[in-house]
Amino acid sequence: MRPIESAIDTGSAQFKDNTKAYQALLETLDERLQWAISGGPNREQSIERHLDRGKILVRDRIDMVTDIATPFLEFSTLSGWGQYDNDVPGAGIVTGVGLVHGVPYVFIANDATVKGGSLVPMAIKKHVRAQDIAAENDLGVIYLVDSGGAFLPLQDEIFPDKDHFGGSFYRQARLSAQGLPQLSVVLGGCTAGGAYVPALSDEVIMVEGIGGIFLGGPPIVKAALGEIVSPDELGGAEVHTRISGVSDYMAATESEAYGRLRDICATTNQRSIEDRQGWIGWVEPEPPAYDPAELHGIVSADDRIPFDATEIIARIVDGSRFSPFKPEWGSSIVCGFTRIWGHLVGVIANNGIIFSESALKATHFIELCEQRRIPLVFLQNTSGYMVGSDSERGGIAKNGAKMVSAVANATVPKYTVLIGGSYGAGNYGMCGRGFNPRLLFAWPNSRIATMAADTAETVLTDIRLGGLKGAETTEEEIAEIRAGIRHQYETQSDPYHATSRLWDDGLIDPVQTRDVLGLSLALAARQDEPAAGPALVYRM
Ligand code: COA
Repeated sequence: MRPIESAIDTGSAQFKDNTKAYQALLETLDERLQWAISGGPNREQSIERHLDRGKILVRDRIDMVTDIATPFLEFSTLSGWGQYDNDVPGAGIVTGVGLVHGVPYVFIANDATVKGGSLVPMAIKKHVRAQDIAAENDLGVIYLVDSGGAFLPLQDEIFPDKDHFGGSFYRQARLSAQGLPQLSVVLGGCTAGGAYVPALSDEVIMVEGIGGIFLGGPPIVKAALGEIVSPDELGGAEVHTRISGVSDYMAATESEAYGRLRDICATTNQRSIEDRQGWIGWVEPEPPAYDPAELHGIVSADDRIPFDATEIIARIVDGSRFSPFKPEWGSSIVCGFTRIWGHLVGVIANNGIIFSESALKATHFIELCEQRRIPLVFLQNTSGYMVGSDSERGGIAKNGAKMVSAVANATVPKYTVLIGGSYGAGNYGMCGRGFNPRLLFAWPNSRIATMAADTAETVLTDIRLGGLKGAETTEEEIAEIRAGIRHQYETQSDPYHATSRLWDDGLIDPVQTRDVLGLSLALAARQDEPAAGPALVYRM
């Protein structure tokens, strides 16, 4: 693989302007991450109460379990942003992947300082998503349970449907049966749904004084049976470890519990992060030849000005080395082989609109990766597939469909990063959420919608005016319609709107892309090779 030769002038005014604009995006990201981690109205009081009870904050808990000085890849930190009156930071739950004795585990940890750790709809979505990540990547799950169960005011959005609370228990039981350890530490009054998480775990530790498990808490027991009982008498660590057997171990402190948990992890017989099975080609990694921080100056501050996908690739991959596939054909998609943290991957990146040729090139490339068992990385930045009569006559619908079909049926691990626009069916062909990439991250400059706000404003205004069938419409009324549509599209395509709803697994600084993809690939490399379909490579 040859090194990419960058054409970026880091001293140019445009580079400096872009960098400055990106710094502003990162400041916003940072502020909002702070909201998720420690901010939010009424949080101070509940944090204080939590600490007064001798309890440890959720991210510190995770820190105490994971290996010292190892990364924790947190998912969807900004879930819930802008929803529920912006009063449920991070949706009240922290999920991610961390290492224990070198073995990666998914963590699902309730944040009891947010609505008593009860689960709002986005919390359930996050919980279930974390379990799906565990299932696909063969990871055990550590549950740090401190939850009042379903968030009762929104029970109809949490309780009955397929991927609601029931779906999380279904997954937990099946993950265990798949041989993936399900381990719980009980750190609060876990009621109803909150109680089934430990009850369905393979091994359970309860912390004395703070941990409780009850199908119905003391108020429910009083209402139902007239029995007056304290939380500890009803379902404390002593009751469940010494009498009912719901719990296997009790610990006097959280710290002791995490030591015990790490002891359990030492016996789970899972593959470590470095236990590569060899089916993904691997060599010693080398850093990119170009500084990843330059990505901030390459992404255009004005999203109507395109930027070159190859320049992005040069700042993510090992040694900035890249073997482009069909470089002379279908230039609005860049495909090629490269390595990320030593792992051999096929990259597919947009350079604007997807034309028929680009779609066919990408399809051919996906088939090659599938045949050679090489994971795929998609870098999305497209306004979608080309429209217009020339394009239609050239068969864009069937050519785009080939790409969509190839992506859907590829059995190798797929990863997606939204580095710019993710519009229309471009989102699908480039392995958007609906196409089950193993992990999907987005940059804070990204946009996701059926179409860009500029286009939507024209299209929808025309449709609306057409519907009025010639009725008199004043200039002001037309301007109002336009402004309303623009506002809707701008709001809904905003990356914070997307990440709040878990359309991605988190917003990342572009500089983190290489490490995040490297860790994601390392998870796959320790698995057995996924079963493949027939390796058909059709020339397109
Ligand atoms: N639904 C909605 N809100 C809930 C909740 C739930 N299941 N569980 C807790 N909360 C909220 C409380 O209303 C309170 O909100 P506020 O901060 O806006 O006042 C906050 O979480 C903290 O609850 P609080 O009871 O003060 O905390 P605690 O640490 O003393 O007790 C629980 C925690 C979980 C033991 C207790 O809140 C409880 O028993 N909740 C109800 C559990 C339940 O019946 N669940 C049934 C689920 S099907």
